[in-house]
Amino acid sequence: IGPVKKICCIGAGYVGGPTMAMIAHQCHDIEVKVVDINAERIAQWNSDELPIYEPGLDDIVKGRRGQNLIFTTEVDEAIREADMIFISVNTPTKTFGVGAGRAANLEFIEKCARKIAEVSVGHKIVVEKSTLPVRTAEAVKAILAEATSGATFDVLSNPEFLAEGTAIDDLLAPDRVLIGGESEAAIQALVDVYAQWVPAERLLTTNLWSSELSKLTANAFLAQRVSSINSISALCEATEADVDEVAMAIGMDSRIGPKFLKSSVGFGGSCFQKDILNLVYLCEYFGLPEVADYWQQVVTMNDYQKRRFVHRMVRTMFNTVSDKKIAIWGFAFKKDTNDTRESAAIYVCRDLLLEKARLSIYDPQVTKAQIVANLEAVFQNGDQELSAVSRQLIENNVEVVSDAETAADSAHAIAVLTEWDEFANADFAKILQRMKKPAFVFDGRNTLKGLNLEDIGFDYQGIGFSR
Ligand code: NAI
Repeated sequence: IGPVKKICCIGAGYVGGPTMAMIAHQCHDIEVKVVDINAERIAQWNSDELPIYEPGLDDIVKGRRGQNLIFTTEVDEAIREADMIFISVNTPTKTFGVGAGRAANLEFIEKCARKIAEVSVGHKIVVEKSTLPVRTAEAVKAILAEATSGATFDVLSNPEFLAEGTAIDDLLAPDRVLIGGESEAAIQALVDVYAQWVPAERLLTTNLWSSELSKLTANAFLAQRVSSINSISALCEATEADVDEVAMAIGMDSRIGPKFLKSSVGFGGSCFQKDILNLVYLCEYFGLPEVADYWQQVVTMNDYQKRRFVHRMVRTMFNTVSDKKIAIWGFAFKKDTNDTRESAAIYVCRDLLLEKARLSIYDPQVTKAQIVANLEAVFQNGDQELSAVSRQLIENNVEVVSDAETAADSAHAIAVLTEWDEFANADFAKILQRMKKPAFVFDGRNTLKGLNLEDIGFDYQGIGFSR
């Protein structure tokens, strides 16, 4: 196995796009082709308007695109030419059949493995970049072993730890890069790629199974911290303790640490819930029901936190939000991304619509089409048809506007659901004048907490404290 000259990455999504752009940026002598079956997505990667918003991504893509970074739908050709192939396709929660609602849907992974087996010649290193249940490499190897062309393969696991919103910084200076494998030579080939910019002590190599399992475990531990502090936020609201003060106090304990202790309306994103449910399912599969129950509770607590937020809104607004206009500030699952997958905002909006509220939604990076599609999907509930009643509910009661102030115009309340920095800079005196009184602010991220909005006349409520 010689040094890697050509890379192919299958899947031009939130992970494939940024990670491959970074490799192309750091390794000018490697040709990186990112392929996808979604022609529209590839066209967007080749346009001025990239399909994903991520600070710093534009410059890196535009710096290398057309040189050693190529976005194309020519999947077969890219696989055939490459000496290393990353699989970075989506692995969503299964919606049907055995394990529905919990197990990972590995259909797209298997299709990639079959495609690689079909078109490869010579020797290839196949790298699992997607987040996968432990032992998936077993299946990938079995499929590759059936290649009729005589091609040979090494399989590596190289899970991605970037966080959306900070993807470029995370890729530039990762806490660690994890590479699991069986062949020393194959592992070394991938180590040599990352070693172009990542310090040697941050390149961690393990066996295949530890690497696969570490990614699920990392997400489970991170989400657990959020659910743990959120569980305490409910207790704080009942006792005049302040969850931000509690988080500060425990975070200064070096054994606990300060990160990921921010209480909120609940975690979202495409990974946490999916990966924990996947872990729960794996534990059940391996006959470990107590372990499954333990991790399931992290998701249960998160659902409770989202429901609790809406209950508190309704209770505070005199037990009815029917026909009241509510401004929704932020729809992305966190700031600095346009990703809305599993965003808490989807569930909060759904529950408010079921209470017959009228919503005026503003997010700096999320399109109207995306918001409507997410709301339709949540009312559709899996594979069912969207009912005429639900469609009407959305059509008649949801508007998407292009700035925060317009959303708040004549509203009874503002609900802050994403922690975008710009919200703190709004002209609250002006907004107050134009809102119905009492003017409520429900801050699902505690981003406006320091502004003391109650001093200028708002009824301000955040997560995990009472004033
Ligand atoms: P995504 O949905 O944004 O992108 C996946 C892409 O793969 C799509 O564009 C899809 O069209 C393409 N695709 C699917 N099947 C294909 C096939 N057979 N051939 C060619 N292209 C195909 O998903 P995202 O967010 O990039 O996630 C990918 C994987 O990375 C998942 O396993 C996820 O759990 C993992 N991950 C995601 C992170 C995130 O922050 N989004 C972070 C770390 C890991």
